[in-house]
Amino acid sequence: MTRKGIILAGGAGTRLSPLTKAVSKQLMPIYDKPMIYYPLSTLMSFGINEILIICTPYHIDSFKSLLGNGKQWGIRIDYKSQPNPEGIAQAFILGEEFLDDSNVALILGDNLFYGNNFENDLNDANKDKDCATVFAYPVSDPTRYGIIYFDEKTNDVIDIVEKPKNPKSNYAMTGLYFYDNKVINYAKSLKPSDRDELEITDINKIYLKENNLKVKLLGRGMAWLDTGTFDSLQEAGTFIRTLERRQGLKIGSPEETAWKSGFINNKQLKNLALEMSKSTYGDYLLNLLK
Ligand code: DAU
Repeated sequence: MTRKGIILAGGAGTRLSPLTKAVSKQLMPIYDKPMIYYPLSTLMSFGINEILIICTPYHIDSFKSLLGNGKQWGIRIDYKSQPNPEGIAQAFILGEEFLDDSNVALILGDNLFYGNNFENDLNDANKDKDCATVFAYPVSDPTRYGIIYFDEKTNDVIDIVEKPKNPKSNYAMTGLYFYDNKVINYAKSLKPSDRDELEITDINKIYLKENNLKVKLLGRGMAWLDTGTFDSLQEAGTFIRTLERRQGLKIGSPEETAWKSGFINNKQLKNLALEMSKSTYGDYLLNLLK
């Protein structure tokens, strides 16, 4: 069973206005790359090579000029517009034709993950066939997220609550979700929530009820970065800059990920590098070949 990827990159971005008045949030720079490069590279890093980008009709052409059809990175990229931000779970309805009978990995276009063992976690989750796999990450402000409640004795997941007013746990559900193909029908069965959205939390609750939800805890060594406010956007850029400058390695480069995943060969990487020869980004790609 194949697994395809969806990047949800729509939404009004109102919390970052006026930055987002003319430019999509997911195209904002995170240090040296557009934000969407990071979730895109995350999907590619575990072998996903068919990806649907869902964004607003207003921004679709900008995404197309940045990412094209994916051929340059040895993958295929399709596009679908979401006229109104009617919920994260709507991605599976909008993506039904694209997914066909495949399983899916959905990632939010503003979610950045970085960590040592993360690739192993991703490869494991990718192997799961007939279930949902999601990731839990401890946060200091649990009222802002979908929060996972665990049984104190058994550590089993007992509930998931979207933005609880009085959270009983600080484990947030991150914006990366692995599902089997049943998710399309589950999404179609949902009713809009009080905030008028098809909630991803309601999808996860269905899997929980069916005893088919795997939750993996992301540990201390892992960074899951938020980009939802002016400060967190700036902090994410600083975080990437610090690591990249210290290690001389890039995070979230689709060119490098495509090359490492075997989607493109040395010659293709070289050509991509030469297209950016006036930028240190191009120099970095060229250096990979040495
Ligand atoms: O970031 C993880 C959190 O994402 C989870 O813990 C929550 O369970 C989940 O509901 C979601 O939280 P938010 O409600 O804060 O998500 P937000 O509305 O900010 O949307 C997340 C991203 O998805 C954002 O970049 C915009 C995009 N989006 C969102 C909606 C609702 C769309 O493209 N279309 C949509 O309809």
